Amino acid sequence: MSRKPEIAIVGPGRLGAALARSLRSAGYTISEVISRDLPESRRRAARLARALGAWARTPATASFNAQVVWLCVSDDAIRACAQALAPKTRWKGKVAFHSSGALSSDLLAACRRRGAAVASIHPMMTFGRDDSSTPSMAGVPFAIEGDARAVAVARRIARDLGGDLFPIPKQNKVLYHALGSFSSPLVVATLATAERVAAAAGIARPAAAKIMQPILQQTILNYLRDGAAAAFSGPIVRGDLATVRKHLAALKKVPEARQVYIALVRAALKSLPVGRRQEMRRVVSGE
Ligand SMILES: NC(=O)c1ccc[n+]([C@@H]2O[C@H](COP(=O)([O-])OP(=O)(O)OC[C@H]3O[C@@H](n4cnc5c(N)ncnc54)[C@H](OP(=O)(O)O)[C@@H]3O)[C@@H](O)[C@H]2O)c1
Repeated sequence: MSRKPEIAIVGPGRLGAALARSLRSAGYTISEVISRDLPESRRRAARLARALGAWARTPATASFNAQVVWLCVSDDAIRACAQALAPKTRWKGKVAFHSSGALSSDLLAACRRRGAAVASIHPMMTFGRDDSSTPSMAGVPFAIEGDARAVAVARRIARDLGGDLFPIPKQNKVLYHALGSFSSPLVVATLATAERVAAAAGIARPAAAKIMQPILQQTILNYLRDGAAAAFSGPIVRGDLATVRKHLAALKKVPEARQVYIALVRAALKSLPVGRRQEMRRVVSGE
Protein backbone atom coordinates (compact mmCIF):
# COMPACT_ATOMS: atom_id res chain seq x y z
CA MET A 1 0.00 0.00 0.00
CA SER A 2 2.10 2.90 -1.23
CA ARG A 3 -0.78 5.43 -1.41
CA LYS A 4 -3.03 6.23 1.53
CA PRO A 5 -5.39 3.24 1.70
CA GLU A 6 -9.17 3.69 1.66
CA ILE A 7 -10.71 2.88 5.02
CA ALA A 8 -14.10 1.45 6.00
CA ILE A 9 -15.24 2.27 9.53
CA VAL A 10 -17.41 -0.35 11.23
CA GLY A 11 -19.26 1.05 14.26
CA PRO A 12 -19.87 4.83 14.22
CA GLY A 13 -19.70 5.20 18.01
CA ARG A 14 -17.45 7.49 20.06
CA LEU A 15 -14.13 6.22 18.73
CA GLY A 16 -15.39 5.43 15.22
CA ALA A 17 -16.70 8.96 14.68
CA ALA A 18 -13.65 10.74 16.12
CA LEU A 19 -11.23 8.49 14.27
CA ALA A 20 -13.04 8.84 10.95
CA ARG A 21 -12.97 12.64 11.24
CA SER A 22 -9.26 12.66 12.09
CA LEU A 23 -8.48 10.26 9.24
CA ARG A 24 -10.42 12.45 6.81
CA SER A 25 -8.49 15.55 8.01
CA ALA A 26 -5.24 13.63 7.51
CA GLY A 27 -6.14 13.02 3.85
CA TYR A 28 -7.59 9.51 4.08
CA THR A 29 -10.72 8.54 2.16
CA ILE A 30 -13.39 6.91 4.29
CA SER A 31 -15.29 4.79 1.78
CA GLU A 32 -18.05 3.46 4.02
CA VAL A 33 -19.41 3.92 7.53
CA ILE A 34 -20.98 0.60 8.47
CA SER A 35 -23.48 0.36 11.32
CA ARG A 36 -25.93 -2.11 12.71
CA ASP A 37 -29.27 -2.22 10.93
CA LEU A 38 -31.11 -0.38 13.72
CA PRO A 39 -32.83 3.00 13.25
CA GLU A 40 -30.64 5.01 15.66
CA SER A 41 -27.45 3.26 14.48
CA ARG A 42 -28.28 3.97 10.83
CA ARG A 43 -29.02 7.61 11.67
CA ARG A 44 -25.64 7.94 13.42
CA ALA A 45 -23.87 6.32 10.46
CA ALA A 46 -25.70 8.57 7.97
CA ARG A 47 -24.76 11.72 9.93
CA LEU A 48 -21.11 10.74 10.08
CA ALA A 49 -20.97 9.54 6.47
CA ARG A 50 -22.46 12.86 5.29
CA ALA A 51 -19.75 14.80 7.12
CA LEU A 52 -17.05 12.62 5.53
CA GLY A 53 -18.39 12.26 1.99
CA ALA A 54 -18.71 8.51 2.59
CA TRP A 55 -21.48 5.94 2.13
CA ALA A 56 -23.55 4.91 5.13
CA ARG A 57 -24.16 1.18 4.98
CA THR A 58 -25.20 -1.81 7.03
CA PRO A 59 -23.36 -5.16 6.92
CA ALA A 60 -25.95 -6.34 4.36
CA THR A 61 -25.39 -3.42 1.97
CA ALA A 62 -21.67 -2.64 2.51
CA SER A 63 -19.23 -3.31 -0.34
CA PHE A 64 -16.17 -3.87 1.90
CA ASN A 65 -14.01 -2.71 -1.00
CA ALA A 66 -11.70 -0.63 1.22
CA GLN A 67 -8.17 -1.90 1.76
CA VAL A 68 -8.49 -1.27 5.50
CA VAL A 69 -11.55 -2.37 7.50
CA TRP A 70 -11.44 -0.80 10.97
CA LEU A 71 -13.72 -2.37 13.58
CA CYS A 72 -14.65 0.36 16.04
CA VAL A 73 -17.30 -1.70 17.82
CA SER A 74 -17.44 -2.35 21.58
CA ASP A 75 -14.82 -4.75 22.92
CA ASP A 76 -17.41 -7.46 23.59
CA ALA A 77 -18.64 -7.32 19.98
CA ILE A 78 -15.27 -7.47 18.16
CA ARG A 79 -14.90 -11.24 17.79
CA ALA A 80 -18.50 -11.83 16.67
CA CYS A 81 -18.36 -8.84 14.34
CA ALA A 82 -15.15 -10.16 12.70
CA GLN A 83 -16.78 -13.57 12.31
CA ALA A 84 -19.87 -12.02 10.73
CA LEU A 85 -17.86 -9.82 8.33
CA ALA A 86 -15.30 -12.48 7.36
CA PRO A 87 -17.40 -14.13 4.61
CA LYS A 88 -18.54 -10.78 3.16
CA THR A 89 -15.42 -9.89 1.16
CA ARG A 90 -12.15 -11.22 -0.27
CA TRP A 91 -9.63 -10.48 2.48
CA LYS A 92 -6.44 -11.35 0.62
CA GLY A 93 -4.23 -8.23 0.57
CA LYS A 94 -6.54 -6.36 2.97
CA VAL A 95 -5.99 -5.25 6.53
CA ALA A 96 -8.41 -5.45 9.48
CA PHE A 97 -7.95 -3.43 12.67
CA HIS A 98 -9.72 -3.12 15.96
CA SER A 99 -9.06 -0.46 18.58
CA SER A 100 -9.56 -2.16 21.90
CA GLY A 101 -6.84 -1.26 24.37
CA ALA A 102 -7.29 -4.44 26.38
CA LEU A 103 -7.78 -7.11 23.71
CA SER A 104 -5.34 -8.53 21.19
CA SER A 105 -5.52 -8.69 17.40
CA ASP A 106 -6.25 -12.44 17.71
CA LEU A 107 -9.93 -11.49 18.01
CA LEU A 108 -9.77 -10.80 14.28
CA ALA A 109 -8.72 -14.40 13.54
CA ALA A 110 -11.79 -15.00 11.33
CA CYS A 111 -10.54 -12.31 8.90
CA ARG A 112 -6.93 -13.53 9.18
CA ARG A 113 -7.98 -17.07 8.23
CA ARG A 114 -9.37 -15.64 4.98
CA GLY A 115 -6.14 -13.82 4.11
CA ALA A 116 -6.31 -10.49 5.96
CA ALA A 117 -3.40 -9.12 7.94
CA VAL A 118 -4.73 -8.00 11.34
CA ALA A 119 -3.62 -5.64 14.09
CA SER A 120 -4.94 -3.81 17.11
CA ILE A 121 -4.26 -0.09 17.21
CA HIS A 122 -5.26 1.74 20.38
CA PRO A 123 -5.10 5.50 20.87
CA MET A 124 -4.68 6.34 24.56
CA MET A 125 -7.26 9.14 24.47
CA THR A 126 -10.82 9.70 25.63
CA PHE A 127 -13.54 10.21 23.00
CA GLY A 128 -17.01 11.29 24.05
CA ARG A 129 -20.35 11.44 22.25
CA ASP A 130 -20.10 15.19 21.73
CA ASP A 131 -18.77 15.85 18.19
CA SER A 132 -17.68 19.36 19.10
CA SER A 133 -15.17 18.09 21.67
CA THR A 134 -13.38 15.63 19.35
CA PRO A 135 -9.79 15.73 20.61
CA SER A 136 -6.86 16.02 18.23
CA MET A 137 -4.81 12.85 17.69
CA ALA A 138 -1.59 14.88 17.62
CA GLY A 139 0.78 13.60 20.27
CA VAL A 140 -1.61 10.81 21.32
CA PRO A 141 0.20 7.53 22.10
CA PHE A 142 -0.93 4.65 19.85
CA ALA A 143 -0.24 1.10 21.11
CA ILE A 144 0.08 -1.28 18.16
CA GLU A 145 0.45 -5.06 17.85
CA GLY A 146 -0.38 -7.70 15.26
CA ASP A 147 0.75 -9.18 11.93
CA ALA A 148 3.80 -7.48 10.38
CA ARG A 149 1.95 -6.24 7.28
CA ALA A 150 -0.95 -4.82 9.30
CA VAL A 151 1.41 -3.26 11.85
CA ALA A 152 3.26 -1.47 9.03
CA VAL A 153 -0.05 0.02 7.80
CA ALA A 154 -1.12 0.88 11.36
CA ARG A 155 2.20 2.65 12.01
CA ARG A 156 1.88 4.71 8.88
CA ILE A 157 -1.71 5.75 9.67
CA ALA A 158 -0.90 6.59 13.30
CA ARG A 159 2.08 8.65 12.13
CA ASP A 160 -0.12 10.50 9.59
CA LEU A 161 -2.53 11.31 12.44
CA GLY A 162 0.35 12.87 14.37
CA GLY A 163 0.31 10.04 16.92
CA ASP A 164 3.18 8.86 19.06
CA LEU A 165 3.33 5.13 18.27
CA PHE A 166 4.81 2.30 20.25
CA PRO A 167 4.68 -1.51 20.11
CA ILE A 168 2.81 -3.37 22.86
CA PRO A 169 3.25 -7.09 23.64
CA LYS A 170 -0.15 -8.86 23.50
CA GLN A 171 0.24 -10.17 27.04
CA ASN A 172 0.67 -6.62 28.44
CA LYS A 173 -2.44 -5.13 26.86
CA VAL A 174 -4.88 -5.66 29.72
CA LEU A 175 -2.69 -3.91 32.30
CA TYR A 176 -1.75 -1.21 29.78
CA HIS A 177 -5.48 -0.60 29.33
CA ALA A 178 -6.08 -0.58 33.09
CA LEU A 179 -3.55 2.29 33.16
CA GLY A 180 -5.85 4.09 30.73
CA SER A 181 -8.82 3.44 33.02
CA PHE A 182 -6.95 5.02 35.93
CA SER A 183 -6.04 7.98 33.70
CA SER A 184 -9.54 8.92 32.55
CA PRO A 185 -12.77 7.09 33.50
CA LEU A 186 -11.70 6.42 37.08
CA VAL A 187 -10.55 10.03 37.45
CA VAL A 188 -14.05 11.02 36.36
CA ALA A 189 -15.54 8.49 38.79
CA THR A 190 -13.46 10.08 41.57
CA LEU A 191 -14.70 13.54 40.58
CA ALA A 192 -18.31 12.31 40.49
CA THR A 193 -17.74 10.97 44.02
CA ALA A 194 -16.38 14.38 45.02
CA GLU A 195 -19.58 15.98 43.69
CA ARG A 196 -21.64 13.76 46.02
CA VAL A 197 -19.50 14.91 48.94
CA ALA A 198 -20.06 18.52 47.81
CA ALA A 199 -23.82 17.90 47.73
CA ALA A 200 -23.66 16.63 51.33
CA ALA A 201 -21.94 19.93 52.19
CA GLY A 202 -24.81 21.85 50.54
CA ILE A 203 -22.86 22.68 47.35
CA ALA A 204 -24.70 21.88 44.11
CA ARG A 205 -22.99 20.46 41.01
CA PRO A 206 -22.17 23.56 38.91
CA ALA A 207 -20.78 25.32 41.98
CA ALA A 208 -18.82 22.21 42.98
CA ALA A 209 -17.16 21.97 39.56
CA LYS A 210 -16.24 25.67 39.77
CA ILE A 211 -14.73 25.19 43.23
CA MET A 212 -12.77 22.12 42.08
CA GLN A 213 -11.44 23.58 38.84
CA PRO A 214 -8.33 25.52 40.01
CA ILE A 215 -7.09 22.86 42.45
CA LEU A 216 -7.77 20.08 39.98
CA GLN A 217 -5.95 21.78 37.12
CA GLN A 218 -2.97 22.67 39.33
CA THR A 219 -2.78 19.12 40.67
CA ILE A 220 -2.63 17.62 37.16
CA LEU A 221 0.01 20.18 36.16
CA ASN A 222 2.08 19.44 39.28
CA TYR A 223 1.83 15.68 38.74
CA LEU A 224 2.83 15.87 35.07
CA ARG A 225 5.70 18.27 35.78
CA ASP A 226 7.06 16.99 39.10
CA GLY A 227 5.69 13.45 39.62
CA ALA A 228 3.31 11.89 42.13
CA ALA A 229 5.25 12.37 45.36
CA ALA A 230 5.88 16.08 44.77
CA ALA A 231 2.26 16.69 43.73
CA PHE A 232 0.87 14.99 46.86
CA SER A 233 -0.29 17.58 49.43
CA GLY A 234 -2.93 17.71 52.18
CA PRO A 235 -3.60 16.05 55.54
CA ILE A 236 -2.27 12.61 54.55
CA VAL A 237 1.23 13.79 53.58
CA ARG A 238 1.25 16.10 56.65
CA GLY A 239 0.17 13.32 58.95
CA ASP A 240 -2.76 15.37 60.29
CA LEU A 241 -4.49 12.40 61.90
CA ALA A 242 -7.27 14.36 63.59
CA THR A 243 -8.36 15.87 60.28
CA VAL A 244 -8.41 12.48 58.57
CA ARG A 245 -10.46 11.09 61.49
CA LYS A 246 -12.93 13.99 61.08
CA HIS A 247 -13.21 13.29 57.33
CA LEU A 248 -13.96 9.62 58.03
CA ALA A 249 -16.61 10.53 60.58
CA ALA A 250 -18.30 13.12 58.34
CA LEU A 251 -18.16 10.84 55.28
CA LYS A 252 -20.46 8.38 57.06
CA LYS A 253 -23.17 10.55 55.45
CA VAL A 254 -21.87 9.47 52.00
CA PRO A 255 -20.84 5.84 52.58
CA GLU A 256 -19.65 5.12 48.99
CA ALA A 257 -17.39 8.17 49.11
CA ARG A 258 -16.02 6.99 52.47
CA GLN A 259 -15.08 3.64 50.91
CA VAL A 260 -13.33 5.40 48.01
CA TYR A 261 -11.51 7.68 50.48
CA ILE A 262 -10.24 4.72 52.51
CA ALA A 263 -9.17 2.80 49.37
CA LEU A 264 -7.23 5.82 48.10
CA VAL A 265 -5.50 6.46 51.46
CA ARG A 266 -4.49 2.77 51.47
CA ALA A 267 -3.09 3.20 47.94
CA ALA A 268 -1.22 6.31 49.13
CA LEU A 269 0.25 4.31 52.02
CA LYS A 270 1.78 1.94 49.42
CA SER A 271 3.36 4.45 47.08
CA LEU A 272 3.37 8.02 48.40
CA PRO A 273 4.96 9.98 51.25
CA VAL A 274 2.55 9.74 54.21
CA GLY A 275 3.09 11.55 57.51
CA ARG A 276 2.88 9.41 60.70
CA ARG A 277 2.51 6.41 58.41
CA GLN A 278 1.84 3.70 61.03
CA GLU A 279 -0.78 5.77 62.86
CA MET A 280 -2.39 6.76 59.55
CA ARG A 281 -2.62 3.07 58.63
CA ARG A 282 -4.41 2.41 61.92
CA VAL A 283 -6.82 5.36 61.41
CA VAL A 284 -8.01 4.09 58.01
CA SER A 285 -8.19 0.52 59.32
CA GLY A 286 -10.60 1.76 61.98
CA GLU A 287 -8.29 0.60 64.81
N1 LIG B 1 -14.28 5.97 23.59
C1 LIG B 1 -13.00 5.97 23.88
O1 LIG B 1 -12.53 6.86 24.59
C2 LIG B 1 -12.08 4.91 23.30
C3 LIG B 1 -10.69 5.17 23.32
C4 LIG B 1 -9.83 4.22 22.77
C5 LIG B 1 -10.34 3.03 22.25
N2 LIG B 1 -11.69 2.81 22.28
C6 LIG B 1 -12.17 1.52 21.73
O2 LIG B 1 -13.05 1.79 20.66
C7 LIG B 1 -14.02 0.75 20.54
C8 LIG B 1 -15.41 1.38 20.55
O3 LIG B 1 -15.60 2.04 21.79
P1 LIG B 1 -16.52 3.35 21.90
O4 LIG B 1 -16.17 4.01 23.17
O5 LIG B 1 -16.48 4.11 20.63
O6 LIG B 1 -17.95 2.66 22.07
P2 LIG B 1 -19.40 3.22 21.68
O7 LIG B 1 -19.41 4.69 21.59
O8 LIG B 1 -20.34 2.53 22.59
O9 LIG B 1 -19.59 2.65 20.21
C9 LIG B 1 -19.62 1.28 19.99
C10 LIG B 1 -20.00 1.00 18.55
O10 LIG B 1 -20.06 -0.42 18.45
C11 LIG B 1 -21.33 -0.79 17.95
N3 LIG B 1 -21.74 -2.07 18.54
C12 LIG B 1 -21.96 -2.32 19.85
N4 LIG B 1 -22.34 -3.60 20.01
C13 LIG B 1 -22.35 -4.15 18.78
C14 LIG B 1 -22.68 -5.43 18.28
N5 LIG B 1 -23.04 -6.42 19.11
N6 LIG B 1 -22.57 -5.63 16.94
C15 LIG B 1 -22.20 -4.64 16.10
N7 LIG B 1 -21.89 -3.39 16.52
C16 LIG B 1 -21.98 -3.16 17.83
C17 LIG B 1 -22.26 0.32 18.35
O11 LIG B 1 -23.34 0.29 17.49
P3 LIG B 1 -24.72 1.06 17.77
O12 LIG B 1 -24.47 2.45 17.26
O13 LIG B 1 -25.69 0.26 16.97
O14 LIG B 1 -24.98 0.99 19.25
C18 LIG B 1 -21.36 1.56 18.17
O15 LIG B 1 -21.33 1.97 16.83
C19 LIG B 1 -13.78 -0.19 21.72
O16 LIG B 1 -13.00 -1.29 21.29
C20 LIG B 1 -12.98 0.66 22.70
O17 LIG B 1 -12.15 -0.11 23.53
C21 LIG B 1 -12.57 3.71 22.78
